[in-house]
This record gives sequence, structure tokens and C-alpha cells, in this order.
Amino acid sequence: MKKIVYTSLIVIGLLTACSQPLNTPPKNTAPDVAKPTAAASSDLSAGNAIRGKELFNGAGTCNACHSLEKGVKLVGPSLAGIATTAATRKSGMSAKDYLRESIISPNAYVVADFQPNLMVATFGESLSKQQLADLLAYLESLK
Ligand code: HEC
Repeated sequence: MKKIVYTSLIVIGLLTACSQPLNTPPKNTAPDVAKPTAAASSDLSAGNAIRGKELFNGAGTCNACHSLEKGVKLVGPSLAGIATTAATRKSGMSAKDYLRESIISPNAYVVADFQPNLMVATFGESLSKQQLADLLAYLESLK
């Protein structure tokens, strides 16, 4: 009798062991953390204005369309003093919120004398949350 019990225990044990396919990579138990995109997040991490400036003049390509000299129009408006202007663009909207919106959805407010759909509309996806925060810190310094 004991022998039968032991045998069945072994069989059950083997079956359990074999029900896990061999050589499968260990399951990734880390929770699926969605890649934070600039557009997805409303609370921004602290930005670095120096990195923001580099981005503006470099990989961000902002300077291709925006001069920082007062009154100089390229494809887009001059961003001289944009921190001050931004605070007056939409009533009830802070400068920072306006700047953020201008970068990630440029058509939400189209600056007078400019056409919609000219500014690159994909910065919300292409910039990381940190890059957006850095750009905002830089633009906020342009008073
Ligand atoms: C292909 C040209 C182009 C590029 C590149 C571009 N912009 Fe613009 N941008 C525009 C145009 C045109 C406008 C005005 C029309 C509008 O409001 O959408 C504008 C508007 C803005 C405004 C609002 C200005 C105001 O006076 O209210 C901000 C802020 C801005 N852009 C920031 C940026 C930043 C930051 C970048 C880089 C990450 C960038 N833009 C890249 C063309 C561009």
C-alpha cells in the first residue's frame, strides 16, 4: 500500500514538473511600465535649462524655425521673450502650460500671422518627458 502511495506521489511530482515546458526563458515578472511620453504626463520632472538650450539648437531642430532675435520671423515666430508672451496667450493658462501645449500640440493655438500645420506636430511622441521638461525650463528663462 505504502509503495503505491509513494509511486503516485512520484508520478504526480513528475507530471507537475513536466507540465512546465523546458527551456522556456523565465517569465518576466516585472510589471509592464509604459514608456513615459511627453504627451502622457502632466506632472513634469525638473527641467535643466542648459540641456534645454542644447536641444533647442540641436536635436530638437527648434532653431531651424525659431529665431531668438526680437521680431525676426523664420518659419515660425521669434521666441524672444516667449516666457513673458506665453503668460498672456490664453487666459487662465500659465506660461508653462501654454509652452508645453505649444510644443506638443502646436495647432491648439496658432500665433497670429502664422499658418497652422507648419510646426512639427510630433514632439509629444519624439521628445522624452525629461527632454520636454528641459526645453520648458529653457523657454521659461527667455523673459
Ligand atoms: C518646421 C518649423 C518649426 C519647428 C521645427 C518648430 N516650430 Fe515652433 N512654431 C512654428 C510655427 C510656424 C509656429 C506658429 C504657428 C503655431 O502657433 O502653431 C510655432 C509656434 C511655436 C510656439 C508658440 C509661440 C508663441 O509666440 O506663442 C512655441 C513656444 C514653439 N513654437 C516652440 C517650439 C519648440 C520648443 C520647438 C522645438 C522643439 C519648435 N517650436 C519647433 C514652427 C516650428
